[in-house]
Amino acid sequence: MKTGIKIALSVAMLTSLSFGGEQFAMSDADRAMYVEMSENNPADIMIADGEELLEYMGGDAGLAKYFGVSEDDLPAYIAGFPRYIKKFDMVVGLDQVIQAMMADGGHKPLKLKSGNMFSIMAYVKSIANGEKINIDVTANKQMKEAYALGLKTYMTKRGGRGLSCNSCHSPDVIGRVLRTQPLPDLSAKGVKAAATWPAYRMTKSSLRTLQRRFQGCMKNALLKVIPIGSKEMVALEVYLTDKSKGAEIAIPGLKR
Ligand code: HEC
Repeated sequence: MKTGIKIALSVAMLTSLSFGGEQFAMSDADRAMYVEMSENNPADIMIADGEELLEYMGGDAGLAKYFGVSEDDLPAYIAGFPRYIKKFDMVVGLDQVIQAMMADGGHKPLKLKSGNMFSIMAYVKSIANGEKINIDVTANKQMKEAYALGLKTYMTKRGGRGLSCNSCHSPDVIGRVLRTQPLPDLSAKGVKAAATWPAYRMTKSSLRTLQRRFQGCMKNALLKVIPIGSKEMVALEVYLTDKSKGAEIAIPGLKR
């Protein structure tokens, strides 16, 4: 479905930042579409596809077995990603574990950036719907390092315009509007962002993951785009997921 929402975001627009208070700058037509889609999220069908794709790897039971947890404990375990997994000796996102599970099962692993991977990942995270995010960034040395790297990546100014994630997402800019888009504060404790991705993006007419969303911001703000699954990307996800700790997982989200 074409949305008609223009997202010609460029950094030049930063000069048009203005204080918008609580206003939510959507046209009436866009707002109506948002309401309609929140009752009937188009990503539900992609999640159903993801569930089907997981089936050839044994479905939920296969996943629980791969993680080494019981099926009952699966939702809480999923709600703790990204996490350090000894077997990989790395802090990994759900998508990377799914990829490893495919490879170990003798299947050709899906690319992290593929639509089918986004669908499977959304399905897997939706298993934890209703569960509270329980990431533990002090669980071990590796998580502490990932958190520190995430914070650093978030704060580091890059690109021709010298912007960091924090330039647009810090508490100082709450209530400001970049073009028609209110800038979401991501740095406060209790923001729900990480609990609502993967999400359907109306402006992209597709299901996207959190790391894919980061890439969108990097592209828009002229920061060099960091690859999905890289150490920095997972670290950014760790940092922002910690901000959403305690938030109830509700997948698929619905975003502009
Ligand atoms: C030039 C300003 C700008 C910069 C720099 C920027 N963002 Fe954003 N970001 C936005 C805007 C505007 C939105 C909301 C867009 C919308 O409403 O569709 C957004 C949305 C997001 C969201 C979705 C929030 C939600 O509630 O779901 C995430 C996550 C995010 N940004 C992460 C990042 C990260 C990580 C970086 C650094 C790599 C970054 N952003 C850099 C402007 C920016």
